[in-house]
Amino acid sequence: MERLQKVIAQAGITSRRKAEQLIVSGKVEVNGQTVTELGIKVSPDDQVKVNGVPISREQPVYFLLYKPVGVISSVRDDRNRKTVVDFFDHVPQRIFPVGRLDYDTSGAIVLTNDGELANKLMHPRFQLDKTYIAAVHPIPTEDQLRRLASGIRLDDGMTAGAKVRLVSSDRSRQTANVQLTIHEGRNRQVRRMFAALDLHVRKLRRDRYGFLSLAGLHPGDSRPLKPHEVKTFYHLVERVNPSRPDGK
Ligand code: URA
Repeated sequence: MERLQKVIAQAGITSRRKAEQLIVSGKVEVNGQTVTELGIKVSPDDQVKVNGVPISREQPVYFLLYKPVGVISSVRDDRNRKTVVDFFDHVPQRIFPVGRLDYDTSGAIVLTNDGELANKLMHPRFQLDKTYIAAVHPIPTEDQLRRLASGIRLDDGMTAGAKVRLVSSDRSRQTANVQLTIHEGRNRQVRRMFAALDLHVRKLRRDRYGFLSLAGLHPGDSRPLKPHEVKTFYHLVERVNPSRPDGK
């Protein structure tokens, strides 16, 4: 049994707080009866409607995928390219990726059918650390590494502070691996940060998504999140309240 407002939020329709408002204002029915009290719990067999429309009552599921290069981070592609969801043909629930990785970027991506958690993780105020390994050419100078860390001016504004580490370099080939941890999620941000310094990204992999790493996975592998990992995500997102301007 789950609280009615949680079930509505998990269906991805709205936040828990707005779900409570929907209940109080008489917009929610359980098994054909309008419910206006907040305390009630529902079982998976109860039929819940919001504004007369049944909501999806799928069991929430959560996966971590090591996305290979050459795969689209969406549910379907109008050019028929392989998508991250194609790795989950065995999963009956309608899952979708949380955020995106470029077609030419590999690495850690979470998929779920839990709209509430996905919306919170993708909210700009929720600043989850994401760690990338970029194979770049040529080798960045000390000054370039400092600039990556302190902020780079891009056409959509300055980037926030980042953690940067030169992992390895090859003098003869003039290539290097740079580890970069950012908490923003702007479009092609890592590639644009390096490009702004005239560094070419040859390969990009997301090694960590928050506390989740790719340990034990190869490109194309996936695993379900463990219950304590799902709980940790909920604890993390619940510390941030997106409806307040300061996100606290
Ligand atoms: N930054 C990029 O440039 N690409 C990604 O896929 C993710 C972050």
